[in-house]
This record gives sequence, structure tokens and C-alpha cells, in this order.
Amino acid sequence: TITPVLLAGGSGTRLWPLSRRRFPKQFARLSGEETMFQAAIRRGTGAAFGPPVVLTAAPFRFVAAEQLAAMGADPEAILLEPEPRSTAPAILAAAMRAAPDDLLLVMPADHLVADADAFRADVAAAAAAARDGAIVLFGAPPDRPETGYGYIRATGPIATPAPAPLPVEGFVEKPDAATAGRLVAQGALWNAGIFLFRAGAFLRAVREAAPALMPPVAAALRGARADLGFLRLDPDAWSGVPDVSVDRAVMERTPALRVQPLRSAWADLGDWSALARQVGGGATPTQGAATAIDCEGGLLRTEGAGPRLVGLGLRDVVAVAMPDAVLVMDAARGQDVGAAVAALRDAG
Ligand code: GDD
Ligand code: MG
Repeated sequence: TITPVLLAGGSGTRLWPLSRRRFPKQFARLSGEETMFQAAIRRGTGAAFGPPVVLTAAPFRFVAAEQLAAMGADPEAILLEPEPRSTAPAILAAAMRAAPDDLLLVMPADHLVADADAFRADVAAAAAAARDGAIVLFGAPPDRPETGYGYIRATGPIATPAPAPLPVEGFVEKPDAATAGRLVAQGALWNAGIFLFRAGAFLRAVREAAPALMPPVAAALRGARADLGFLRLDPDAWSGVPDVSVDRAVMERTPALRVQPLRSAWADLGDWSALARQVGGGATPTQGAATAIDCEGGLLRTEGAGPRLVGLGLRDVVAVAMPDAVLVMDAARGQDVGAAVAALRDAG
């Protein structure tokens, strides 16, 4: 069986004011019945999967547990990171806890995967290569030179459905705009941030590519203590863990990569521009008590019943009203919201 490993520790500041420090977007309902976290959990259920491992930050532990319980999901473990250290240490902790031959499917908790059945079929197609020791990435066809993603150069023609993952020539995390344009023209795929590997294969890649991560993460696990059904990583050891993403620490440096092209539509709903693009096209989409009159592009959103929000004659404007905060921005500036929120916070 495959163990789903859910990354649910991001702070999601690019979706402010919906996403808050105490309640980040992966636990919010963007559209539909389930939160993004619940949808990700559901994506990794079925005969091929064992109970999930959830990695998150201590302040989110009860939200995560409650949302799991609400859908009847019983996790293998909920690991709590004492401080954010990005994705490499979190994934490494999960891999170190697992048996070397366990297959782990690492999934971000804040993505849209339109067709869960197609996704599971792609995971099944990649399983044999992962068992053989490959670190399998899942790739989505790009439709713009996005600088916020990683790019995968595959060898050979990309066809979907692919019966098995393709060899990878190179991985580039978050290139500048010119490089991104070149990679798109060369037929590179976006890294969907979803990974399938044998725990032992991942440990080996970390040992070779980022050995400094191993001792402090191992110490944080050794000193971990059980607390009300959660597993708290040791804070002293964790404070010595380098803050680095798995993409930069491992994927850019390891030769063991393969890529499985995704047949389902995929989106990282990490910022308002992505969200507007996803639900939109043409007339401005509205959510909650929002009305768009003669508006194009962008997104108008309120939380539930109000405050009432009316847009008139707007072009590519995103407006998001929460009871205590309102964001109005150019629909192209989604990647800058995180920095704006950080500046607000610094200003008190
Ligand atoms: N547990 C835990 N701890 N999860 C984390 C942490 C952490 O410290 N930091 C981030 N995450 C979670 C986020 O909540 C998200 O689900 C996932 O890990 C990826 O982190 P992001 O911060 O959203 O990364 P990104 O979007 O900038 O880039 C990554 O995803 C892109 C596609 O969405 C990279 O993998 C890119 O290469 C990729 O293209
Ligand atoms: Mg993301």
C-alpha cells in the first residue's frame, strides 16, 4: 500500500485576508463542500492507500484533527512541526519514520486536482518505478511562464495517459521570467509538488544532496513526544533544522528523478490570481454576497452573507472582503500579497 503524506503546514499568506495566520487557506472552503485539506485526504483514499500521515504546524493541530474526524478519516499520525522549516525537513521526517520499503505519496494540502480517479490512475502507473528506487514527480502542462513553480525537463515525448514515468533531464525551481519562457517553449512540465517514492530512496537522495538535514531531523524525531494523539517533534532539535524546500534541497540535485505527466487538470490555488484564473475566464466570478456588473476578469468575493460587495465596470480586479479586512488588487499581483501582508505585520 501507499502512505499518503499530507503537507499542511504552509501559512498561505498569499491568500490573505481569507487565509489567516491561525487559519490558513488549506483549511478553508474555497468552493464546494470540502476544504482543500479534506479534498487532498480524499484524493489519497481507496484500496491502494493506507492511512495518511499529516504534517502541520502546532497551531493548526485541532483544525486538522477536526476536519479529519468530520470526514471519518483516521490518520496514521499527525506530526507537529514546532516552527516552519519549509517542505524538505517535513518530508524527511515522514520518510525517516516510515519503513525503508514503504511507498510515500507526498501531497500538498492546498491544490486543485479536478479528476481524482485520473490522479489515482497516474499514481498507480508510477508505482513500479518508485518501487525500483525512482523519485517520481508529477508534471502538469504549463500554460504560461509562471515564475512561482518548478519546471521539469522530461526526456522523450510527453503523452497522457503515460503507462510509466519518463526519465528527467533537469529540474529548475522557480526560474526567472526569461528562463521560465524558455522552459515552456522547450516543452518542460510544471512540478505539481506531488511526489511518490520509497522512503529509503528519498533518504538516500537527501544523504547525497543535502546531508546537513539528516542529523537535526533525526534528533527531532528521537525527541518527539506524543500529546493528545499528536506527535510533537522536539523543538530544540527542530530549531537547528535548516529552512529549505524539498525542491531546492533535493529535486534540483538528485539524479534519481522521473516524471509522470498528470492527466487531470491541476492547479496550485496558492494565490488570488491563480484562483481567479481557475474559476474565471470572461465575466468576473463572484462568491458570497458579491455582484459584478459589467466586470471582466478578476474575482469578487465575500464571506457568506456579507458585507455586500458590488463591482461596477471593473477590469481584472480582485476584491476580497472579510468581516475585518478587505483586499482590493490588480488581478496580476497575486504573488505579491505575501510580501504585502508581511509588511503590514512588521508595521504592527
Ligand atoms: N508541513 C509543512 N511544513 N508544510 C509546508 C511547509 C512547512 O513548513 N511549508 C509549506 N508547506 C506546504 C504548503 O502548505 C503547500 O501545501 C506545500 O507544502 C508546498 O509549499 P508552497 O509554499 O505552497 O510551495 P510553492 O507553491 O511555493 O512551490 C512548490 O509547489 C509548486 C506547485 O504548487 C514547489 O514544489 C514548486 O516546485 C511547485 O511547482
Ligand atoms: Mg503552493
